[in-house]
Formats: sequence, structure tokens, C-alpha cells
Amino acid sequence: MNKQLNIGLFGLGVVGSGLWDILQEQAHQPFSIRKIGVQNPEKQRTPPAHFLTLQPESILEDPGIDVIVEAITHPEEALALVTQALRNGKDVITANKKMLARYLPQLLKIAAENERTLLYESAACGGIPVVRTLDEYFSAEPLDKLYGIFNGTSNYLLTQMFRYQLPFAEALKQAQEKGFAEADPSDDVDGADAKHKLILLSAHGQGLWVHPDEVLHLGIRHIQPEDIAWAQQQGATIKLVPTGKRLPDNRVALYVIPHLVQRDNPLFHIHDEFNSVHIEGQYSGRHVLTGRGAGSKPTASAIIADLQGLQRRQQYRYSKKRLLSRPALDESLEIPVYIRLPKSAETSVNLESIKVDSVEIDGQNIRLEGHVRLSDLKSLRGALHAAGAFVMQR
Ligand SMILES: NC(=O)c1ccc[n+]([C@@H]2O[C@H](COP(=O)([O-])OP(=O)(O)OC[C@H]3O[C@@H](n4cnc5c(N)ncnc54)[C@H](OP(=O)(O)O)[C@@H]3O)[C@@H](O)[C@H]2O)c1
Repeated sequence: MNKQLNIGLFGLGVVGSGLWDILQEQAHQPFSIRKIGVQNPEKQRTPPAHFLTLQPESILEDPGIDVIVEAITHPEEALALVTQALRNGKDVITANKKMLARYLPQLLKIAAENERTLLYESAACGGIPVVRTLDEYFSAEPLDKLYGIFNGTSNYLLTQMFRYQLPFAEALKQAQEKGFAEADPSDDVDGADAKHKLILLSAHGQGLWVHPDEVLHLGIRHIQPEDIAWAQQQGATIKLVPTGKRLPDNRVALYVIPHLVQRDNPLFHIHDEFNSVHIEGQYSGRHVLTGRGAGSKPTASAIIADLQGLQRRQQYRYSKKRLLSRPALDESLEIPVYIRLPKSAETSVNLESIKVDSVEIDGQNIRLEGHVRLSDLKSLRGALHAAGAFVMQR
């Protein structure tokens, strides 16, 4: 018989409410929420008031609570809560990819010092069971490539823009009204959220451990109807794709950039808020996991899988981290790019590092096709962003 796990939950937003709701529906599960930490005393809530607290200590110091489920937003506030929970002898399940991408090594050290477990299936692609798959099933096989669509908001926006020929600002407004985009969508549309997930998945699948500041990300904020029309003329679409690509000499290129995606690529057919994780093993070939990468109950279902994992004493193995020669981040990879920037910005971006194949002037825009090394693109990122340029891999 499984031991009953008593949960202290932090956060009762999209994710926390999903966990509450599922556990009400599935009363047979051996998990019960004892207390819920929130911030705003004025909000209307589904759980009865006696569950709620504004005092984190009343959860962190409750000896009757076995496990903390952390589902708040701010990464540094989450770090403080998770750190204290581990030090107080509690296991932790977290959905907070931004915190994990920044502080995973530090958190694992604290967990080990306190003989506690840290699980986070929900943090990378919500309801898609990919962290455990990479950690356990692919613990030995080298992965040639790890890529896909890891951010539902940007995929929803791109789908709407291609389907209804909407400008970015209009698509974003509609997505915010429908709850598919947050009031501040920066992490989603600029590629940082996909990068945080890529970093976690690469740590498990490829043994590469890097800080987010080291990894290039470019997003879809500056996409224009001209870019969409250009892609459609090629019979293609555009997707925001995080990539972890294995290179010779035990090196891995890790980056997030919009891609021109042709119809024969399975990513072409991933629409709306869906995510799709592609794993290419050296021996076993390509595996695809497609599903709901975000949302209340899909994300909470991954938290429940972690609660069950805790009962079975599941721990991540991080097998590839333990390899004698761990891979290093490589920025020398040269990728084919499309860059569209306003003519007025031509002098503000130094494009010397780009090997240009062709240049076209189209109305107020310059469209350039060429090749660029990731390190050079990383150096140009700030200037391209400031100029309102849209960059994608061809
Ligand atoms: N939404 C998704 O589909 C999804 C999927 C995977 C992972 N995640 C991750 O899950 C986490 C939560 O996301 P969410 O979408 O559920 O956010 P959300 O809807 O904005 O809810 C955040 C909740 O955290 C509470 N909170 C914020 N700071 C707090 C603090 N210092 N102490 C206690 N409670 C605090 C808020 O309290 P009040 O209610 O009082 O304001 C709110 O209930 C984030 O790290 C996110 O990246 C989300």
C-alpha cells in the first residue's frame, strides 16, 4: 500500500488550480493537499479558505507536510521557497523551468546534502512525459538531435498568423483575450521559455549543462506579413524551434531560432498550442512525443506523475552528466539564415559576419539570405532585435 503523501502547494494559478481540481476528481489518489501558499488575499478561490495561507513558513515548517509542489511564477522567489523546503527535509516537485534552467546545479547540491528528491516533469513541455523519458530510457544512447516545438504560445500565434493572415500584434491581442498568452508574453515570444526547456532536456538527454545566458535565443516578435508571405511562396511555414545538435568531438550546439519548415517535416503539422519533442537517437532513430505542452490539467497531470514517482522513490539519474567526458557547448556551427530588416536599419546593424548568398529590396525592407555562425549571430542578436529584424533558419 502506497504511503499517503501530504502536499504543501505554492501557487494557485493555472497550474496549482489544475492540481487541486484533479485531486478533487481523483479522490482515490494517495495524495492530499494540506495547505496552499498564495500571495493575494483578495482573490476568489475554489479551495476552502482554511487551506490558504499567505505565510510560507506555515507550509515550509509544517512537519506533517512531506512534499512541496512549487507552482509560482518568479524564479528567484521560487528558488528561496524550494531551497528552504529541501533544507527542511521535504521533497520538491516544481513546474518552474526558468528557475531550474538558472539554478539546477545549485538545487541538486542542496537536495543531495539534505537527502531529498527534486522532480520536474511538468517544467519541460507540460503534459508531455519527456524529462523522465530522456533521463531513464535514453540514459545511455547518444542523441544526435533534440528539437521540436516547446512553446505553445508562440506556436498558437504562428498558427493564427498563417491561418488568418493576421499581423503579430493582432494575433497576440486575440491570444491574450483567449488566455493563450500572458499579459507580458516576452519569454514566450522572444524564445527564452523554449530555451529554458531546451536546457533542461539537453541536460538529461545530452549531458550538456549550461546557463541560459550562454545560449542564443531569437524569437518571433518581429515577424511581419512579408515574412509569412515569403514562407508561403516556398510552400513552407514558420515554427519557433529549439535545437540541441550533437557535433563531432563531443560538442553540442544549443540554440533557439524560428525555422522555415517545409510540408514534409512533421513539425509543419503541429498547430495551435501543441508541442512536439523530437528525439533522434544514434542507434534507434527518431522518436516523436506530441501533446499538450501547457495548460492547467495537462501540466498538473505531469505533477501527479511526479508524485507517483516520489512514492516509488524515483530519482533522476543524470547518467549523461556522469560520463567521463561531458560535452561542451559549441557555437561554431554555421546555419543558413533569412534576415528581413527595415531599410532604415541597414546602417545600424553590422552584417559583415554574414556570408551573403542573395539580397533583395522589397518595399521598405531588405531581405537577405546567407550563412552565419551561431557565435556571430549571438553577437548580432541585440542589434538585430533593436532594429526590428526577423531572423530565421532556412
Ligand atoms: N501555465 C502553464 O501551462 C505552465 C506549464 C508548465 C509550467 N508552468 C510553470 O508553472 C509555474 C506557475 O505557472 P502558472 O501559469 O500557474 O502561473 P499563474 O497562473 O500566474 O499563477 C501563479 C500563482 O503563484 C502565486 N504566487 C506568486 N508568487 C507567490 C509567492 N511568492 N508565494 C506564494 N504564491 C505566489 C500566485 O498567487 P495569487 O493567486 O495570490 O496571485 C498565483 O496563484 C511557472 O513557473 C510556470 O512557468 C506553467
